[in-house]
Amino acid sequence: MSRARFAVATLLLLVLAGCGAEYPQSSISPTSDFAEIIHSLYVSVFWWTMVILAVVWLILAYILVRFRARDDRPHPKQIHGHLGLEIGWTVGPALIVVAIAVPTIQAVFETQRERTGEEYVVEVIGHRYWWEFRYPEEGVVTANELHLPVGRRVALRMHSVDVVHSFWVPQLGGKRDLNPLRRVPQGENPRYNWLRFTITEPGVYMGQCAEFCGHGHSLMGLTVVAQEEGEFREWLGGMGAADAATDTAAAPDTAGATTTDADAPAETAGTAAPAPPDGQAAQEEPEIEVDTAAARTPAADTPAAAAADEWWADPGLIEEGRRGFHEVSYCGLCHSTDPTRAVPNLGPNLGNLGSRATIGAGRLENTPGNLITWITHPRAVKPDVYMPGTETAAPRLGQEGEWPVTGLTPEQVRAVAAYLTSLK
Ligand code: CUA
Repeated sequence: MSRARFAVATLLLLVLAGCGAEYPQSSISPTSDFAEIIHSLYVSVFWWTMVILAVVWLILAYILVRFRARDDRPHPKQIHGHLGLEIGWTVGPALIVVAIAVPTIQAVFETQRERTGEEYVVEVIGHRYWWEFRYPEEGVVTANELHLPVGRRVALRMHSVDVVHSFWVPQLGGKRDLNPLRRVPQGENPRYNWLRFTITEPGVYMGQCAEFCGHGHSLMGLTVVAQEEGEFREWLGGMGAADAATDTAAAPDTAGATTTDADAPAETAGTAAPAPPDGQAAQEEPEIEVDTAAARTPAADTPAAAAADEWWADPGLIEEGRRGFHEVSYCGLCHSTDPTRAVPNLGPNLGNLGSRATIGAGRLENTPGNLITWITHPRAVKPDVYMPGTETAAPRLGQEGEWPVTGLTPEQVRAVAAYLTSLK
């Protein structure tokens, strides 16, 4: 095989290899009406481009052959300035731009349609570097894993508590920014951004923050779990039926907290959090080997399903972990463990953590072992996270000082991992 042929064959192989694999963040396998609008626009522009390419190549081939240099033939007639050609290559591209612009603008308007009032509203709140999801109708709160019904128009009402983030789940449609809410005069509504779509297929769809928001931006992942209506209702029911009494009693710091209030800007919740104990200087994080490969692969089953013979299912250990979380350390200052309590929300709501596929906003697969790693050295797993570990403090987002070390011993960390895994 000649070198050129080998090069072509290799290139072809590489191109074909791109077609086979599963890409969880692909925008060319739409599963919502929104994504379908974008995708069909993309496909039609692509094929028109191919037609233009073919025409240009045919003309080029004709010219190359027809006017090729030959010894027995004089030079073809030379042309300088041709009005017809000039008009042609000005008007032609202008028409092409119009042909692309018209359906594009149509698609923009179609995907920005006003609310109909029929939609199922879910509030999406951006935090550095995680996602908060509130279901105002049911008073349910969760984080990083967004459950949505299939076949029903949903409206995501979006804002941020800090900087601008952008919600992007490629299979469900385009990006939309989550802006910090401005204080508005009384009587006026805050300006939310809305993203509306109807999911057409059940499944697990990966997403990603698409607006640079700090050092942890690339690690701000999310998952959408699209479920049939009945299954979705069941999930909501499970979230509401969590043992709220236990957690409320165990976490006196959150006693003043109100239940989910979708209209209250989330940042007000943050300011109410009491000051942490005196900080210690942040130390260097140890080097940790982190296997994140599994975390970015969609998984329908929850990997943390605890079989009875697993160490983390021991009720005594879980109880010890509950105390470690709420009494020994101050985890409850930032995290709610009740899926019906929206605050505190300085960190993700952990109410159903045990049933989520990942931890750290898509960073790690959710296993008790990874939970131990995460609780011990969060900043080694996710460099800019605002969560202290057992040996390292963490900066306080937007405020002076830092969150001191959690003070949990390795045994207590293990127990806390068991407790969190038990929260379903
Ligand atoms: Cu949030 Cu980038």
